[in-house]
Amino acid sequence: MEDKFQKLEQRKEKALLGGGEKRIASQHKKGKLTARERVHFLLDEGSFEEIGMLVTHRSTDFGMEQQIFPGDGVVTGYGTVNGRLVYVFAQDFTVFGGSLSETHAEKICKIMDLAAQNGAPLIGLNDSGGARIQEGVASLGGYADIFYRNVKFSGVIPQISAIMGPCAGGAVYSPAMTDFTIMVENTSYMFVTGPNVVKTVTNEEVTAEELGGARTHATKSGVTHLTAVNDLACIENIKQLLSYMPQNCEDRAPVYPYALGEELRPKLDSIIPPSSNQPYDMREVIKELTDENSFMEIHESYAENIVVGFARIGGRSIGIVANQPMVLAGVLDVDSSKKGARFVRFCDSFNVPLLVLVDVPGFLPGTDQEWNAIILNGAKLLYAFSEATVPKVTLITRKAYGGAYDVMNSKHIGADMNFAWPSAEIAVMGAKGASEIIFKKEISEAEDPAQMLAEKEAEYQRKFANPYRAASRGFIDEVIIPSNTRRKLIKAFSMLENKVDKRPRKKHGNIPL
Ligand code: HXC
Repeated sequence: MEDKFQKLEQRKEKALLGGGEKRIASQHKKGKLTARERVHFLLDEGSFEEIGMLVTHRSTDFGMEQQIFPGDGVVTGYGTVNGRLVYVFAQDFTVFGGSLSETHAEKICKIMDLAAQNGAPLIGLNDSGGARIQEGVASLGGYADIFYRNVKFSGVIPQISAIMGPCAGGAVYSPAMTDFTIMVENTSYMFVTGPNVVKTVTNEEVTAEELGGARTHATKSGVTHLTAVNDLACIENIKQLLSYMPQNCEDRAPVYPYALGEELRPKLDSIIPPSSNQPYDMREVIKELTDENSFMEIHESYAENIVVGFARIGGRSIGIVANQPMVLAGVLDVDSSKKGARFVRFCDSFNVPLLVLVDVPGFLPGTDQEWNAIILNGAKLLYAFSEATVPKVTLITRKAYGGAYDVMNSKHIGADMNFAWPSAEIAVMGAKGASEIIFKKEISEAEDPAQMLAEKEAEYQRKFANPYRAASRGFIDEVIIPSNTRRKLIKAFSMLENKVDKRPRKKHGNIPL
């Protein structure tokens, strides 16, 4: 019997060593942790249970039968993060560059199935040279098996992808179909075709970093939601993200203990500048409204004219979508609409209530926007808010003009509580533009057209650039003093806690893509 135990120990030791000490050292030299180290830092101490440690590949071509590494380049299993169950896979770059074989894929699929069946988040730590070249179509099939599950379980359990090394070819599509992607700066990249192919096909010269590094995807493409300076920071991001989420779509996010205290925030009374064209930082408003240090911004450097992220208010998790007057005056455009819509849909899938902060002068005009389908993309945000059945609370701080008033979680598309500050301007457009159109004749015929325009502008401003018309029709539930907003919001979200909003039965909607 002892012999048998010894044999088991030897096999396990081999699995623990991955591709061997030399390759582990090379991984460290690049500033990367190994797959096992990553799992160790991610999960609560002693909570990891490995599954499939002794799995080996079945490949016999190109001398592969001589190269057997137990585990086959991916560490899979389950454990807890802050006491909550998660399933995890971590690709091991020290074994065939973390490349995905048929059996490597089977291990990942097994974990995905378990995660969905048992209602707990799936975390993928990706570090892979892509499809195992020696296996051909078997490995391509393995990828497709993963993609299929990403989609099947989308909206069932949260799925988070960390990109901690290369991620090329079709391999990028699994992370793309998960809920959140986090890239490690300088050691990770994602692209469908690498720099060499780009050069051959388009004659463009570009480095891997420029083409698909963390910064590129955080600022230009929006492919990554977050970036981290190193592996450990990436793992901390995953843990923080999980703290705002429920375990699955039937569950609710954890509530942190909170006793109502002094909730007045006097700073908010002077946050709106005297002139309606002057910017201010909506992040300052968010900071004042939410629990201390609880805001986690998502997509921080992408489409910065809208701010999205998680926070807690009175201990409860919320998702925030806020126009940012500091960037492009907070206008809605193609990218900000897509960014907002995706975030709203995540929150709605996983029962995270929404707080929407509005200061929006409308949609961005121009050929660039029209030719890039602002119609379809703006409709995504409209669709996402309309579709969402979670508690939805809106606060209009200043401008809510035109179609953007409707889109930004107005009462008409199902918001539950709509607040406005006295500084709110709810109108079809700004007073100047409106006066120039509707008083065109009077202005052109006036002795002093500039004087006439100023008079008409003031009249329009008086009549429409306020929240009271909307409040008189019930489109705004209450006009509130800014310093009292946090208290109002805590009470509103608490009141809406058990909201049920049933929609007509359907297979699924058809969001404009
Ligand atoms: C088998 C692979 C491999 C792969 C790397 N290795 N990628 N083995 N299949 N796809 C092996 C290497 O042979 C090497 O083995 C070890 O992993 C480390 O690789 P290096 O090249 O030494 O490392 P590095 O210099 O850091 O470069 C990493 C790399 C490069 C950039 C990822 O290895 C590379 O370009 N790999 C190929 C990437 C690729 O084209 N993959 C297919 C993409 S298409 P030894 O024994 O020497 O240590 C795809 C289709 C998916 O994935 C389709 C889904 C729909």
